[in-house]
Amino acid sequence: MTAKKRYAVCGVSGRGIHMFIGALQKKFREQGEIVAMLDIDARRFEVCCEQFPDMKQIPTFIGEDSFDDMVAKTNPDTVIVTSMDRTHVIYILKALAKNLNVICEKPMVTTSEDCRRVLEAEKQSKGRVTVTFNYRYAAHCRKVKELILEGKVGRITSVDLNWYIDTYHGASYFKRWNRMRENSGGLSIHKSTHHFDLVSWWLDQKPVEVFAFGALNYFGANGETNPLKGDGRHCGTCAVRNDCAYYMRWAARSATQGPKDDHLGTVKAAYTNYRPDMCIFDSAINIEDTYTAAIKYDKGALFSYSVNFSAPYEGFLAVINGTKGRIELNVNHAVSRTPFPAKEYTLSYMPLFGGARDMIDVLEREGGHGGADPILQEDLFLGPDPKRGYEIMSNANVGAMAVCTGEAVWKSVKEKRSVTIAELLKEFY
Ligand SMILES: NC(=O)c1ccc[n+]([C@@H]2O[C@H](COP(=O)([O-])OP(=O)(O)OC[C@H]3O[C@@H](n4cnc5c(N)ncnc54)[C@H](O)[C@@H]3O)[C@@H](O)[C@H]2O)c1
Repeated sequence: MTAKKRYAVCGVSGRGIHMFIGALQKKFREQGEIVAMLDIDARRFEVCCEQFPDMKQIPTFIGEDSFDDMVAKTNPDTVIVTSMDRTHVIYILKALAKNLNVICEKPMVTTSEDCRRVLEAEKQSKGRVTVTFNYRYAAHCRKVKELILEGKVGRITSVDLNWYIDTYHGASYFKRWNRMRENSGGLSIHKSTHHFDLVSWWLDQKPVEVFAFGALNYFGANGETNPLKGDGRHCGTCAVRNDCAYYMRWAARSATQGPKDDHLGTVKAAYTNYRPDMCIFDSAINIEDTYTAAIKYDKGALFSYSVNFSAPYEGFLAVINGTKGRIELNVNHAVSRTPFPAKEYTLSYMPLFGGARDMIDVLEREGGHGGADPILQEDLFLGPDPKRGYEIMSNANVGAMAVCTGEAVWKSVKEKRSVTIAELLKEFY
């Protein structure tokens, strides 16, 4: 029997607890064990132990300066990085310096400069970085990859991806640390890295050049639906929340508690000195909520992208056109929140010549992100599925490419010019 892998978790976040700690505590306890938890906030350890009481025995460490002590005392093989985005780079570099492997949540880091630091550090290390791009694992997204690999589309010429995030989920980014570019890289990095990674993986091509427009339309000080100008309010204690369209879309006048939110969870006072219900109209918000971008790939595909963080329903439309055919994938991520009868997805293939349209069904699994998370967990903790026949796990190069595409998007918006990925990644492109 092979020895259990030893994992240290840096950042006991909502995602860290549910995706990684939960999985290792339950399904994969034969294959791996958590040997340490590190966070800047001791309350996070309590929150974790409230959900997984066995975690009470696990040594805890406070802050990045305790990393070396943690490694010396607990001897992990792999560091799981699930902290606030801007801190990922700290733990990746520290882990690589000690020749440890890293499993990192997306985005790998928040700047192109940090991408280069990670890629340089990985060259000098025996450790390797895996970035957990879970969207790749959704059954319909895997099917798109398989259709492309079968040659159904031919040479890919153009891709359209329009992503819609509803008022429930979209607003959550503007209530939390994510709303500051210095924390998350902005949503073209924090969120869109998922989308850029998915398209690059489908195409098996490298992004070359980006031109984008973007704006803060719905949130921030000039948000049209702000019921009262002023900073520093919180939903839980806001005197004007019954006049806030975003709050009332998901709550009732008679409710004593605010609506449950995708990212806020139901745990009360889950953090010390930080409230994840900050006002979505605060003037400090310095990121965009709407983007369109044109992206050129190295083997000729042209990619047209848009994302909107305040839509009436949540999902995306992806279209892949090639010299032999076309794939269309229309996904609804939150049928229960959609204000009309909706299907979870439709996937179709149309040959360019000599045939009509094939509607395609896929076998979905239970679990987070449309059944994607459990399959990713299996690859991480049992090893990549040997029967799959194509590459699906993401390394640091892939993580960097997605971050740089996101940075190119917001830089193109600010600087009103096209930005190349090579100017951001430099010698690592
Ligand atoms: N792949 C996905 O679908 C998915 C979904 C949600 C979140 N995520 C990613 O997971 C990560 C966590 O997101 P979340 O929304 O669960 O976060 P969260 O707000 O629940 O938690 C952030 C955690 O980081 C900790 N932290 C802050 N600074 C730190 C530091 N210097 N050192 C150590 N810990 C520090 C905070 O105390 C907190 O525990 C993010 O990188 C996010 O992008 C990915």
